[in-house]
Amino acid sequence: MATIKCPQCGEEIETTGIVTVCPQCGTDLREVMEEVGHARAERMKTIARDDSVTTHEFIVRTRDLRKTYVMGEVEVPALRDIDLDVRRGEYLSIMGPSGSGKSTLFNMIGGLDKPTAGRCFIEEVDMAQLDAFELAWLRCRKIGYIFQTFNLIPVMTALENVTLPMIFAGMGTDEMMDRGRELLELVGLGDRFDHKPYELSGGQQQRVAVARALANAPAIVLADEPTGNLDLQTGKEIIDLLKELNESSGVTVISATHDLKMIDVSDRIVHIRDGGVERIEERADLKLEIGTLGSEHVED
Ligand SMILES: Nc1ncnc2c1ncn2[C@@H]1O[C@H](COP(=O)(O)OP(=O)(O)O)[C@@H](O)[C@H]1O
Ligand SMILES: [Mg+2]
Repeated sequence: MATIKCPQCGEEIETTGIVTVCPQCGTDLREVMEEVGHARAERMKTIARDDSVTTHEFIVRTRDLRKTYVMGEVEVPALRDIDLDVRRGEYLSIMGPSGSGKSTLFNMIGGLDKPTAGRCFIEEVDMAQLDAFELAWLRCRKIGYIFQTFNLIPVMTALENVTLPMIFAGMGTDEMMDRGRELLELVGLGDRFDHKPYELSGGQQQRVAVARALANAPAIVLADEPTGNLDLQTGKEIIDLLKELNESSGVTVISATHDLKMIDVSDRIVHIRDGGVERIEERADLKLEIGTLGSEHVED
């Protein structure tokens, strides 16, 4: 179990996750946590990688990834041995009907839940080898999350929601506010800093969530049905925004969806069914397919 020492009162504090203040004397611990975090990040680079599996080209790799939920006597196989390689900087859509395992896969890649078997590497790091602190650090720095239901904190303003992850990353207040405003401007909400979620439309709330996902300049944005609660036009705007960010900043986007609008912007589409990969389509193949639509060609 990792501990840190409070520089003020000397209290030994257990760090199973990220703590920002000393529970004993209230001292701000962000600077100390930063140092610990960076030391741990160095450790992550060396001990958890597996050169037989990881390469720089792929930002996420899963190997024989399996998740079986146990409900009393019944076992529900949600993921069956998924091998998936996600290229750095790509826009990947995971498509499949409801119940096919999209959210489960999303939770495994995002380190929000643990697989029953198999491994998942993020930036060459085997997540199973990380302790709770390291996992929290990785989630905070490397991954931005977007959910169908926005998941904003209702009592906080747009700006406070966006800057919250920066607090956990130890950023100073001025820098944090500047960056928060910049991000809200980037998603088209330059005039909504002080609005609470209930004072915003669904599309605007999802824009706040997109800005929040980018707070700590993550390498990966994971979006689970980001358009699921939005109308057609607003959903399209969110997808276009994600694509724009993907192209301008090079952030890898992995989006679980059953929204066909995603096809246009995706570099690849992974179709999953019953917890397994059914097929993977490349963008180049998609264009070909669209090109042959309306011709006499009939697939057998
Ligand atoms: N926490 C859970 N406990 C038990 N079964 C679950 C749980 N979460 C998901 N499942 C089951 O796992 C399968 C995949 O679910 P999910 O990943 O949510 O699919 P999707 O996101 O594609 O709709 C479904 O059969 C679902 O009922
Ligand atoms: Mg789902």
